Amino acid sequence: MTPDASALLRWYDHHRRILPWRSLPGHRPDPYAVWLSEIMLQQTTVKAVIAYYERFLTHYPTVQDLAAAPLEDVLHLWAGLGYYARARNLHACAKRVSERGGFPDTVAELLTLPGIGAYTARAIAAIAFGRPVVPVDGNVERVTARLNAIEDPLPTSRPLLAKQAALLNDDPVAQNRPSDFAQALFDLGATICTPRSPACLTCPWQTSCIAHARGIAAQLPAKQPRQARPIRYGAHFLLHDNDGQILLRTRPPTGLLGSMDELPGTDWRSTPWTDEEALIHAPCLTHWMRRGEIRHVFTHFTLYLTVYEACLPQSHNAGIDSSFGTFRSAKRAALPGVMKKCLALTRQTPET
Ligand code: ADE
Repeated sequence: MTPDASALLRWYDHHRRILPWRSLPGHRPDPYAVWLSEIMLQQTTVKAVIAYYERFLTHYPTVQDLAAAPLEDVLHLWAGLGYYARARNLHACAKRVSERGGFPDTVAELLTLPGIGAYTARAIAAIAFGRPVVPVDGNVERVTARLNAIEDPLPTSRPLLAKQAALLNDDPVAQNRPSDFAQALFDLGATICTPRSPACLTCPWQTSCIAHARGIAAQLPAKQPRQARPIRYGAHFLLHDNDGQILLRTRPPTGLLGSMDELPGTDWRSTPWTDEEALIHAPCLTHWMRRGEIRHVFTHFTLYLTVYEACLPQSHNAGIDSSFGTFRSAKRAALPGVMKKCLALTRQTPET
């Protein structure tokens, strides 16, 4: 049975989440706010995004302000949110939008902008411009898999789920309120049709959900078993100078954590480093204190880093080779989450 869009929208009118990027009922959404939130929400939870979103809007109230900002400042503000290609694309996209005098309002044109893929183009087109399209994120995939009791596992089932999700829009009531309909789907997925224990008894679509009727809602969507994440190991060096600055280098612009700052360190390899091996890569010869280890999970591997700390030796007058970086303020650096963990480790265990 095709689910009833009016039942979902009635539920949404009573239970919609209040989110900082959401316009109030009857108000026009700001495309800049919608775009910024959607980029941040790619691979990141609503809870984690809110503070970053508010900070960005305070620093850059308009897309022109963001376009005019130096990339380093944008990366600094993004630091800790992860998936840093998003921040570089965000900046490139702001420049393009600023040059063309505003955001385009069709899916096809939105797709031509940096960092905007199929999901984000549909989300912006529906939410900001009222285009009758269904953005398919993880929430919408889950809702669709359950409504239709699609038992094929993800990611194989993704194209089928996208096709079925597009059918939700066949109801003219959905096409009348595309912005609310898209966000109602997100809220349904986030608050009722949740991954582990869906609240089917309070679901506005309970009577049209085949998975609920069969008692298998909580099992769907099935997922193909993931390959175990490989483990990598590295060592990084926290070197203080006498002015309260630390030695930092900037990673290459492309690849993992591109253009972000880091403590100098070894490669990340598949076997652990002994202290002796690691210290060969230290920026200078001195008494390095082993501060401990941090663990950080990236999408494709888990990383264990050993952190060593020292103060620049008084006798050191030749300077540090520039391949290790320059002394800078940690506060102004664009430090990714993994490097923030390294620094936190040393703050918790001050030198005695
Ligand atoms: N997830 C992705 N986009 C969202 C939005 N606009 N509101 C809530 N959750 C979301």
